[in-house]
Amino acid sequence: FQQTSLPLEEIVSYILHSGPPSKIVVLTGAGVSTASGIPDFRSPTTGLYANLARLNLPYPEAVFTLDYFRSNPLPFYTLAKELYPGKYYPTISHAFIALLHEKGLLEMLFTQNIDCLDRMAGVPDHKIVEAHGSFKGQRCIECQKEFPEKLMLEAVESSTPVRCLDENCGGLVKPDIVFFGEGLPEVFFQKKDLVEKADLLIVMGTSLEVAPFSMLPELVRSTVPRVLFNRERVGSFGSCEYDCVVLGDCDNGVRKLAEGLGWTEELEELFLK
Ligand code: OAD
Ligand code: ZN
Repeated sequence: FQQTSLPLEEIVSYILHSGPPSKIVVLTGAGVSTASGIPDFRSPTTGLYANLARLNLPYPEAVFTLDYFRSNPLPFYTLAKELYPGKYYPTISHAFIALLHEKGLLEMLFTQNIDCLDRMAGVPDHKIVEAHGSFKGQRCIECQKEFPEKLMLEAVESSTPVRCLDENCGGLVKPDIVFFGEGLPEVFFQKKDLVEKADLLIVMGTSLEVAPFSMLPELVRSTVPRVLFNRERVGSFGSCEYDCVVLGDCDNGVRKLAEGLGWTEELEELFLK
């Protein structure tokens, strides 16, 4: 297909002059958090999947696959300790999403991330759809019975798999993050229509390799601009007339957009908070 790209200036004037506040939907993946020190999944040498040799997995995604977890939960528990929220800080890209919210422009953030950095940056709970779940709760994978948070913290801290408190069950306990082989949370399907109604879509730091999340950018109306801030071109970006593709680090792309909008100071202030 013919690749197209609107200049970022067009997006700036669209946001500033499109009349009543635009409804902006933001989609994010692991790339918005790499600047904070958390690895993404699929980057060739730095990504998580390229660095799992020590866990002796049959294939990298196995660590997040339900069947494999059932037979060997140790690799996941080893990784969970590293991924558990609390050790990292939000990036400029997270701060930008929080700023969109402050400006009354953020319709919804759909994130695939489980690091909670959006919330930490100031995006309120009701504006976040955690499409791949989070570490906020945990339950037995067989009977779905909830498991106490305090015991989970200890299990993660010591990388020791824990089992259901119901002795008759004894199933393994897993944080409420979505594994391959599991459905996405109900809220994802409930809020999906916000993408269809959006006035602008911004996609940052995701390979768009994992469905159904990867289908979201296809839901916008055909006259709605779609902006991509990513190190590489992904999905169908560049195939639509109103696509704006900004390759490189998303923090740089976001800073450029903020500058055009005259938001630089506010953005840097929010970032430092
Ligand atoms: P991926 O690792 O698949 O993709 C990250 C994307 O961000 C890649 O296109 C990178 O080039 C890009 N990237 C990395 N750092 C960046 C930066 N600083 N600026 C701009 N772009 C950058 O991560 P996700 O798309 O989030 O699911 O992966 C989707 C899902 O696959 C995850 O939620 C996880 C994984 O398996 C589950 O665990 C269920
Ligand atoms: Zn159970």
